[in-house]
Amino acid sequence: MTLRQKHGNDQVVASDIREGNDSLMESGPFEILDATDYDALEEVIAYYDISEVYLMAAMLSATAEKFPMRAWNLNMNSLFNVLNLGKEKKIDTIFWPSSIAVFGPNTPKEDTPQNTIMEPSTVYGISKQSGERWCEYYFNKFDVDVRSIRYPGLISWKTMPGGGTTDYAVEIYHKALAQGEYTCFLKEETALPMMYMDDAIRATLQLMEANEENIKIRSSYNLAGMSFTPGEMTKSIQNELPNFKTNYEPDFRQAIADSWPSSINDSNAQQDWGWKAAFDLEKTTKEMLGNLK
Ligand SMILES: NC(=O)c1ccc[n+]([C@@H]2O[C@H](COP(=O)([O-])OP(=O)(O)OC[C@H]3O[C@@H](n4cnc5c(N)ncnc54)[C@H](O)[C@@H]3O)[C@@H](O)[C@H]2O)c1
Repeated sequence: MTLRQKHGNDQVVASDIREGNDSLMESGPFEILDATDYDALEEVIAYYDISEVYLMAAMLSATAEKFPMRAWNLNMNSLFNVLNLGKEKKIDTIFWPSSIAVFGPNTPKEDTPQNTIMEPSTVYGISKQSGERWCEYYFNKFDVDVRSIRYPGLISWKTMPGGGTTDYAVEIYHKALAQGEYTCFLKEETALPMMYMDDAIRATLQLMEANEENIKIRSSYNLAGMSFTPGEMTKSIQNELPNFKTNYEPDFRQAIADSWPSSINDSNAQQDWGWKAAFDLEKTTKEMLGNLK
């Protein structure tokens, strides 16, 4: 929707394997498309004369643990399709999101650097790290202008979470308003890197609008917003809703969270294309509760 506001509704073709929400479907062109189908993708790109692709389709971390081969096929083949369209010079620019899931249990947990031990231990993390390697390879070998960010957990009031390990940080606001209580699938003290959606969109557009010579990293950029635990998030909600309560019942997602960093160093994004986050936890809570109400 931000791209449509920026470039004009008819200039941005939205697409998914299923229908989107009303505002997306009604505000401009929409195509039902399977991103793993190269021919269908190529046809839509030719039909609309598309020059830039944002490939968001993926299976997220928690769901991917349940369907490993489906996750691998979707996450890798959709990326290969778009990279190959770049190689064939049928599109000019590609955005593809990576994730903090590329890091693993041997990665330094605090202030995780851009270049460090990775060794992801989840299906999703393995697919994102492989994707990063392929992005860099296609840039080096075939001059494909592909740009990427390692998103932290994203927090938005406009969409429901999609099967990730940071889903709690969205669900909690919905439950706080509807029921005054939330049962969290992570432990109270598990700190993870997170970002409010407005910051994630701003970072994405900033990276895509940066001059090509400023993009020094073609695998994927570390990006930091904020870092907090479910306990800290609960307190920030209690500042607005004093009777709110969180219970803790960790499930299989705790092990995934334990393998990820607690905070991220994004100095490369700051230096190369001027990134600076605007949302902290307090501001995020005010925005989430205000908008969801
Ligand atoms: N949400 C986060 O916190 C987060 C964090 C890091 C990275 N990311 C990455 O950002 C991207 C978007 O994540 P999201 O949270 O919006 O995920 P989501 O699950 O909400 O959305 C993914 C979309 O992909 C669609 N899809 C599934 N299979 C498809 C196919 N074969 N062809 C076309 N579309 C298909 C789904 O219908 C869904 O609408 C993903 O690549 C994800 O890995 C997200």
